[in-house]
This record gives sequence, C-alpha cells and structure tokens, in this order.
Amino acid sequence: MVSAKATGPHSPGSLLSVEDLSIADVSTLLSLTSRLERMQHAERSQLLSGRRVALLFYESSTRTRTSFELAAKSLGITTTLVSDKSSSIEKGESLKDTGLTLRALGAECIILRHQHSGAPVLLERVTGLPVLNAGDGTHEHPSQALLDLRTILTRLPGLERDVVDARSLAGITIVITGDILHSRVARSNAMLLPRLGARVILCGPKELLPEEAFGLGANVEIERNFDRALDGANVIMMLRIQRERLAGLELDLTGYMAHFQLSQDRLRTHAPHALVMHPGPMIRGLEIAGEIADGPQSAIEDQVRHGLAVRSALLLRALASADETRRLAGEVRL
Ligand code: NCD
Repeated sequence: MVSAKATGPHSPGSLLSVEDLSIADVSTLLSLTSRLERMQHAERSQLLSGRRVALLFYESSTRTRTSFELAAKSLGITTTLVSDKSSSIEKGESLKDTGLTLRALGAECIILRHQHSGAPVLLERVTGLPVLNAGDGTHEHPSQALLDLRTILTRLPGLERDVVDARSLAGITIVITGDILHSRVARSNAMLLPRLGARVILCGPKELLPEEAFGLGANVEIERNFDRALDGANVIMMLRIQRERLAGLELDLTGYMAHFQLSQDRLRTHAPHALVMHPGPMIRGLEIAGEIADGPQSAIEDQVRHGLAVRSALLLRALASADETRRLAGEVRL
C-alpha cells in the first residue's frame, strides 16, 4: 500500500489532503466558490464545456458523489461514474488499471473515493491526472473540510466568508464528537480549522479516540466529558459510528449514547446557541436526536449546499489554468 502522504510533486489541480492547500489557496477557493455561485447558469455552464471527468467510487456515497457530479455538470463537464459494484473492479481489476483505462477514455480528472488511505496518491502517480480525493479510508476528506469551513464562515455571525487568514476563526471553539478514530472528516477538519485560528476539541470514548492513534496538532485537544466539551462550544460536529470500519470492536451502544449522544437536554443545557453540524449520513436517535437535526441550530442541509458550491470551485481549479482560476476568484484582472 502507498503511504497516505504524497511523496512526489503533485499535479497542481489535485486535492489529496488539506495539507496541499496554503491558507492563501483556501482563500482563493472560497472566493472562487462565491463567484461561481453568483454566476448566471448560462455563463457557468460554458466554463468547462466539453471537458471530461470520471467519478471513481469504491465506497458508497450520497452527498459527496452527487454534489461532485452536479457541480461538474453545472460547469458544462461531461461526467461518467464508475463504481466498484457494476464495473470490472468486481472482476478484480486493479486501481492502477482502472485509472489508466479512464485516462485512455479521455478523463482529464478523476474524483476518487476509496477504502484505502493513500489510494488517491497512487492514482495520481500512475495516471498523471489531477485527482480529487473524495474520501480515502480513515485518512482524509479534504473537500468536506472546505465545505464545513464555508458553512461555519457563513452561519456564525461576524465572519468574512470569502477571504480567510490565520486569524479568521480566532476565538471559535469547535467540538468534534464521535468515532474520531475512523473519521476522515474529523482528521481533515482537525488539520484545517486550527490553521485558521480555531480551537478544536475532540470528544469520544477511548475506543473511538485513542490518544496515541491521533497526532494532535497545535490548538487540538481531547476532552472525554461531552458536557464539559460543549460548555463554550461555538460549533458542534457530530460523527456517525462507522460500523463498516469497526473491525470486530464491540461498542456498548447504550453507554455510548448516554455519554456522547447530542440530546436535546444536553444541547439546551450546555450549548443553546452553538451551530450543530454533521457530515452525514446521520443515524438519528444514535449520535444525534432527530429534533436537533431538524431544529434551528442545525446547519446540516447548509453543509450539503456548500458541498455543491465548493466542489465546483475544486473542479475549476483542477481543470482550468492557474491564471484563469485566479481571475475568476477576483484576485487578478487579466
Ligand atoms: C462521511 C464519509 O464518507 O467520510 N460522509 C461524507 O462524505 N459526507 C462520513 C461517514 O461516512 O460517516
């Protein structure tokens, strides 16, 4: 298996990890997202007209897949979906051969979701194409972190949405709770948000948040008591228990829910004004009470909408020239 950390130079349009992005790059992507969102349909659909993108999905997905696909179509891109369930992957074809086949068919960029951490690095290396990581194993989900960032910037009062720097989230506390160990969403967020000044608190039981398995960066801490973690939280991100990755680990669900479920009582008592987020899919009544998901503090549907917008910007960055990307982001007038 390939190390999840990329070794060679990247294709400039790829997004394999949030570490690929400088703060200035994040800022450019946010401005570009807003610019694309405001653009008339007719103009937007010409931007990448006739270009070809393949969506290669080895794991199930609703939000990520659909939003990448709709984002691509809104830019005029022709898309094709290859999933492990209905392709030669089922017959044993390797990731390398699948990638080379897609390239031979004219794909200019591949959006990959894969169960193995590091798969996007391998795919980029063998195809030389820009690769957008749509979630690799327990490693990263960079586009999710970007859409989560845009959701936070939009929903919390007083924050600038389209331009960020190292202080943009100063004074903001974000609590991420649940199956941190298996969550690529938690990892990408815990890497990106502190770089913009946020304080990130990770919360969960030892089985799902072992101290030694999680390299804690600056401004990231662990608090095992959920009530204490919630006191003073501006944002709460809840995570699903990833049953498909538990690998024999037995979890006492009743005990888990007693300590870590975001219930109405808990929210009312400890964080009555915090923004509630969840990357989906959520299991109502397990990690989160359904009433909270549907309630006024929830930003869950906003996250989905921002996913569509942010992924258009990522596709543009992957397929347009750097000059064109910066021009559209409003940074330079060419
Ligand atoms: C997540 C994923 O697949 O990493 N979902 C998503 O992309 N929005 C989280 C999960 O599966 O629980």
